[in-house]
This record gives sequence, C-alpha cells and structure tokens, in this order.
Amino acid sequence: MSGASAGRAAVITGIGCHLPPDVVTNEDLTRRLDTSDEWIRSRTGIASRHMVAPGVATSDLAVEAGRRALESAGGGADAVVLATTTPDRPCPATAPDVADRLGLGTVAAFDVSAVCSGFLYGLATAAGFIASGTADRVLLIAADAFTTIIDPADRSTAVIFADGAGAVVLRAGDADEPGAVGRVVLGSDGGLNRLIQVPAGGSRQRSSGVAPAAGEEFFRMAGREVYRHAVERMTASSREAAEAAGWDGPAAADRFAAHQANARILATVADDLGIPLQRRLSNIEHVGNTGAASLAVLLAQSAAEGTLAAGHRLLLTAFGGGLAWGATALVWPDVKAG
Ligand code: UT7
Repeated sequence: MSGASAGRAAVITGIGCHLPPDVVTNEDLTRRLDTSDEWIRSRTGIASRHMVAPGVATSDLAVEAGRRALESAGGGADAVVLATTTPDRPCPATAPDVADRLGLGTVAAFDVSAVCSGFLYGLATAAGFIASGTADRVLLIAADAFTTIIDPADRSTAVIFADGAGAVVLRAGDADEPGAVGRVVLGSDGGLNRLIQVPAGGSRQRSSGVAPAAGEEFFRMAGREVYRHAVERMTASSREAAEAAGWDGPAAADRFAAHQANARILATVADDLGIPLQRRLSNIEHVGNTGAASLAVLLAQSAAEGTLAAGHRLLLTAFGGGLAWGATALVWPDVKAG
C-alpha cells in the first residue's frame, strides 16, 4: 500500500446500484392506509417505490450494488465502508459480511451510521482513508432496507420511505482530476435528535429493564419540523460546499443531486440556490426516499441514463436523522455505471 502524499485524493472510478424487484404503488398503499394517490403525489412527488421481499436484508441489497460498482470500476477494493440505517443486526457491523460475500477477503470493513446523510458521511470517511494512505481503493456502499423499520400503520412515513442500495468505488488519484472528492461539508444537531428516532432497541431502552412499548421499535419522524430544517440545512451546506470548491456560487452547478426526501423540499432548496429545473437530478417519483442509499442510487441511475455525464460540475447535498447533513461539490468523472 502506498503512503499519503501531497495532492493525493480519492477519485470516483466506479458506480452501481440495486433496487429490490417488488414495487409498491400509491394505489397499493391506499388499500391498507387512510391515504390517496393524489395526497402522496402532491405532498411528496412519489408514485411508487421498491420494497424488500420477506427475508431480504440490507446486506443483500448492498452486495448487489457493490458488485455492480466493482464491475464498473474494473477492480477490487482494500476497504469497504457501508452507510446504513438498517444494519442486518445491531452487532456486528454489516460491512464485513458484505466484503466477504463480494470475495474481497479480509479487507477493512465497517458501517457508518448517519441515516439519510450516510452516503456523504461515508464519502468523507472513504476519502480520508485514501488521503491518509490507509487504503488505496475503497468500496463505499450506501444501503437501506428502510421499510423494515417503518410502522406499516404510520401513513406519514409509510408513503415516503423505501429500499435500495447504491455504491461507488474510490481510487487513489490526484486532487485536480475529474471525480476527485474535495471537502465534504458536514454538520449535526443532536439537540434535535427527537425529531427522527427509533425509540427502542438501543442501550437507553435496554438498560431501563423495561420492555419497549408497542410500536417503539419503529421509526418516528416529526415530518413538518424536519421539513423546515431539511430546507435550511441543505441550502446552507450546498452554498458552503460550492464556495469550498472555488465555484462562483451554487448556481454554477451543471447538476444538482439532493437526498430524495420530498419533491417539495428539493424544489425549494434548488429554487433558493438558483439552480434551474433542467439541472436537477431526481428519481423520487419511482424510487421514493431510500435513506442512506438515496444519493448513491440517484447518481448511479443518472449516470446510466446519461443525465449525469463526464465533466458536469455536480453539487450534492443530504439531510436526515441526527440531525445530520452534508454537501460536497465535484466534477463528475468518465465512469460507466454498472
Ligand atoms: O429523509 C430524512 C428527512 N426527511 C424529510 O426531510 C421529510 C420531511 N417531511 C416531509 O416530507 C413532510 O412533512 C411529510 C411528507 C412527512 C408530510 O407532509 P406535510 O405536507 O408536511 O404534511 P403534515 O405533516 O403537515 O400533515 C398535513 C395533514 C395532516 O392532517 P391534518 O392534521 O391537517 O388533518 C396529516 O395527518 O396531512 C395528513 N397526512 C396525510 N394525509 C393523507 C399525513 N400523511 C398523510 C398521508 N395521506 N399519507
């Protein structure tokens, strides 16, 4: 393994994604929830989403996305970072299992927990591994079987969240190459952690010796409050990332990719940043909100479709539970989506 050197940076060299085959339409949801296709489309922009079949876990999605990214990169990896909200089990991390199943052997492998900002937190972590010389090629996978923590009776979350996985391979390269990952602007506000939570299942509840109340094992979100913070944080961090990259403001972006939380949130953020409609990447209509995986799936699909192409200045931002958020700006490299 080579050591760290001045100008050494992580460069995106492969990308891929995987969505579980089962599709749930708004119409399907109306059969078991007090909701309507009209409400879901107009309030969220979602028409359908993918959901894991019984018995399918996050690692199964992650292995598939990881395999595609490795094929796209044409090589292996000496570290695996898995960003997820829904690990296969509380202990151990899911990444070592994924690395093993991908045939990567005994490489470094661990999980990053940053909910919907997981891909950007993972990107910063993976890039740091490469910049320091800890690794030469990192497979970063962002995967969530989010529907496994959703209360099927909670209409405010069941209509939004969905399952999927996306992955990139990062190699050691030069800071001025296309695809080089520069500064990732990251932030958190734990004082507001109550806005997005799975209350039970952790040490707080377990050490109390009291069994969880019905429903406490499910994900809860104070949607309206989260909405406001999402707009504010994604807008501010996007500005900061554009500035850190030396751009003439966020409107210099050729493509804007935001965590697919809600089409109205995305529109407000992009409007505030002065980014026109045709430069906004979106897949929320048929993918929904796939948590940590959201940005990675969006990039992989956009690269495959050609809406994201080599040379595009790309602005990325995410926001979610923690609260945690992030943004970064880079030039999209010449990669073939797997
Ligand atoms: O990914 C991590 C970050 N997450 C986000 O950024 C998500 C942020 N929040 C949101 O996307 C939106 O707040 C939601 C989609 C969750 C909710 O949309 P909203 O426009 O903020 O609705 P609301 O929570 O203000 O609720 C308005 C009404 C309520 O009824 P009343 O109290 O006005 O009678 C809700 O009970 O809409 C009702 N409602 C629904 N009605 C039909 C909530 N969910 C549904 C539903 N179908 N699925």
